[in-house]
Amino acid sequence: MKAIILCAGKGTRLRPLTFTIAKHLIPIANKPVIYYSLEKIKSIGIDQVGLIVNNENINDFKNFLGDGEKFGLSIEYILQNEPKGLAHAVSIARDFIGNDDFLMYLGDNLILDDISKFVNEFRKEEELKASILLSPVKDPSRFGVAVVKGEKIVKVVEKPKDPISNLAIIGMYLFRSTIFEGIDNIKPSWRGELEITDAIGYLIEKGYNVKGHVVYGWWKDTGKPEDLIEANRKILDDNHFKLENKGIMDTLSDIQGRVYIGENSEIINSTIRGPVVIGANCVIKDSYIGPYTSIGDNVLVENCELENSILMDHVKLLNLPYPIDSSLIGKNVQIVNNERKPKAMKFVIGDMGKVEIVR
Ligand code: DAU
Repeated sequence: MKAIILCAGKGTRLRPLTFTIAKHLIPIANKPVIYYSLEKIKSIGIDQVGLIVNNENINDFKNFLGDGEKFGLSIEYILQNEPKGLAHAVSIARDFIGNDDFLMYLGDNLILDDISKFVNEFRKEEELKASILLSPVKDPSRFGVAVVKGEKIVKVVEKPKDPISNLAIIGMYLFRSTIFEGIDNIKPSWRGELEITDAIGYLIEKGYNVKGHVVYGWWKDTGKPEDLIEANRKILDDNHFKLENKGIMDTLSDIQGRVYIGENSEIINSTIRGPVVIGANCVIKDSYIGPYTSIGDNVLVENCELENSILMDHVKLLNLPYPIDSSLIGKNVQIVNNERKPKAMKFVIGDMGKVEIVR
């Protein structure tokens, strides 16, 4: 069995961050989102991964993942020039897949459940032509949804206006090469995409056996900033990081709960209340870092309070009069408070940046 991970979308809802980094490479607990998917794929005994990327992000992925050796995987990069739909992405991976069965993983989805039962069953039951993870949701119109009878899927609809089911299709699918028959027989949807949901619908109409596995554990489509902040909270809560202090801490500082501090980081006159992950070469001075915060490398936080946030590498926060909460702050961002006159707020913010002041 092989795996393909789809990472060729535009990530518009995460702009401006996605102007400079693919959404799948944004860190959660200081690890890019896609690392969690690669670890999951490795854990179910798959070694060959095809990564569907676009012209803009291919080099970023190559820099982060290389040929996959550090994950014990072999990664092949497959270029999809335009995001013409999930089924289109599968069709361009046809040469890579060959006649093998394959796992299709949406690169922006985080699924923490153990999926070995789902995969092993598919490996054993040959008459099963597709198997899909489903999860009950409150807002089915945002997803593809499935109607099930017993374990069998009898109907699927992409982004239904009138929800026919609350079971969303989440980002993991198992297919045999039969799916190409479906892909060859569908037309672009109202949103102009070749939908994998329609290809699955074709298999169902033709009487092939398609099964749904309902997941009750936590999963997330990390498409929006608040999703990433929630995912960060969940991953930090679930203890997916080592408890270690590789940095230096003075006697005025206090570390409470589960905290990781990277090499050469200095904690000066500050309180860190976990779960918190701090990268390498950071300086945290006269500050409070509250629960559910991930801080990248080379970050300076001085005279500030923050919690429930993600700070990427090289961020500088200085003398802020109000706590920072539920924020996603990209690389090299500086937020500083200078005691100068005239008083004013000065911004240099990229396209689609967002500043919210809650007083
Ligand atoms: O999140 C689950 C949902 O994902 C499912 O319920 C839907 O049935 C499925 O169509 C999909 O819907 P989205 O509209 O959320 O898909 P999105 O455009 O966000 O793409 C999902 C991933 O696939 C993302 O990592 C980008 C990548 N992608 C997307 C397209 C359209 C590609 O690699 N190529 C593409 O052409």
